[in-house]
Amino acid sequence: MGSSSIYSGASPEKVAEDLQPLVDFQDAGLSPDELESLVEERLIPHLMKYDSPGFQSMFNILPEKGAKYGGYITLKYNQGVTNWQVSPGGAVLEELCCRKLIDLLGLCPAGDGTFMYSGTYANQEAVYLALHWKAEKDGFNLGEKGLMGFPNPRALAVAVSTDAHFSMRHAVRMLGLGEESLISVPVDKNRRMDSGVLEDSVDATEKEIVCVVATAGTTATGSVDNIPPIAEICKKAGAWLHVDGAYGLAYKLVPEWSSLFAGVELADSVSWDPHKQMGIPIPNSLLFVRRKEDFERMSIHSHYFNREEDVGPNPGLKSPPSTRPMSALSMVTSIRYQGLKKVVERLRSPLIAVRDAYETIREDPDIEVCHYPDTGILCFRIAPPDIPRDQLNQLQMYIYTRITQEGQRYISVTRLEDTTVLRLVALSPQVTCEALLETVAAVRDVAGEYQFMY
Ligand SMILES: Cc1ncc(COP(=O)(O)O)c(C=O)c1O
Repeated sequence: MGSSSIYSGASPEKVAEDLQPLVDFQDAGLSPDELESLVEERLIPHLMKYDSPGFQSMFNILPEKGAKYGGYITLKYNQGVTNWQVSPGGAVLEELCCRKLIDLLGLCPAGDGTFMYSGTYANQEAVYLALHWKAEKDGFNLGEKGLMGFPNPRALAVAVSTDAHFSMRHAVRMLGLGEESLISVPVDKNRRMDSGVLEDSVDATEKEIVCVVATAGTTATGSVDNIPPIAEICKKAGAWLHVDGAYGLAYKLVPEWSSLFAGVELADSVSWDPHKQMGIPIPNSLLFVRRKEDFERMSIHSHYFNREEDVGPNPGLKSPPSTRPMSALSMVTSIRYQGLKKVVERLRSPLIAVRDAYETIREDPDIEVCHYPDTGILCFRIAPPDIPRDQLNQLQMYIYTRITQEGQRYISVTRLEDTTVLRLVALSPQVTCEALLETVAAVRDVAGEYQFMY
């Protein structure tokens, strides 16, 4: 992997000291050269190199070349694309791109999509749409009456798996349901929602389950919930099915992985974050709905803008922000530049890397692999026989801290129930099986030191 640092490895205090001159705002401006040296000297060493094979921690990646071109054109011309008045080409491109993505991803053909700022907001809007839909069945308009329109707002519930992303907690907080409205469904041994338990909970609960969220690629382990049985339960219970594919849905484009996502076309709404592994600049998220008219629940018209009588396409009516970036262009230029074949190859290679790394280490006596890797994430813990089991959580934290401090690679740590585990993420094609196994070797070395200190 070579010895180049993934970032400076400096402490927060040292980073703050170095960055101080950047915020020394003065009456006089700097020349372009002065500005460039300031940023290069002071900031860039402290930025993470997402394209390093050792960056194995989070969902970040450098933009791909075709995407950068789209980003450049966006900044040069119409970065805002709320509607026809702001950017005729941008508004139409967004509509066309959403249609094409529905097709490519095999989502419900009667549906629609909109670009969003983040997966978090897409998930929140999905729960709002679910509530709105339920309110309509109860005979009132949620937009007008709010939650108070429901006969028993305290009974409203959203079912998620224990491994669902915390944006679902934000969603219920922001929508005024509160976290007590979340029904947390356990996961099976591969960390997919246990649909048997979901069914029992739906039957047993006195709450009104408005929405069930299946995660197609969990944040912790990349596991993909089995959607068809969950869709069936939703149908029986009259609940909205939201699929949170923020991280995972991209892998539906890879033929060998596509079947994991079977049933996504049954979802009432689906979120997706191309800004995670598609190499497209942030922000680039989408929310898809099953029926085109579902987005009408979001529309608020004004007199100066987004008027009811406007005839041009108006993507800004499908989500709250008025100012919206032209996210579709970088997606379009990226796919056109690479071609679908390369897009799929880029996505496939880290998936294979993780699967191969899993196969290599799963029998190792000092390693406990926590799940079969559905996608590009592998959680494991190192468990040397001479370390007492009650010390293992502490050991993983020690390893995580030491590895990240070294500045050569970046990994993450998470908890699965009461167990602290190391988490490797392969997002970019630079993260090969070899790079993952080098990390495992580094983890072992650090674990060796821990034994010494213990
Ligand atoms: C499964 C899942 N859902 C939602 C989100 C939130 O997406 P964003 O970070 O774009 O808000 C994430 C982020 O990692 C995620 O992994």
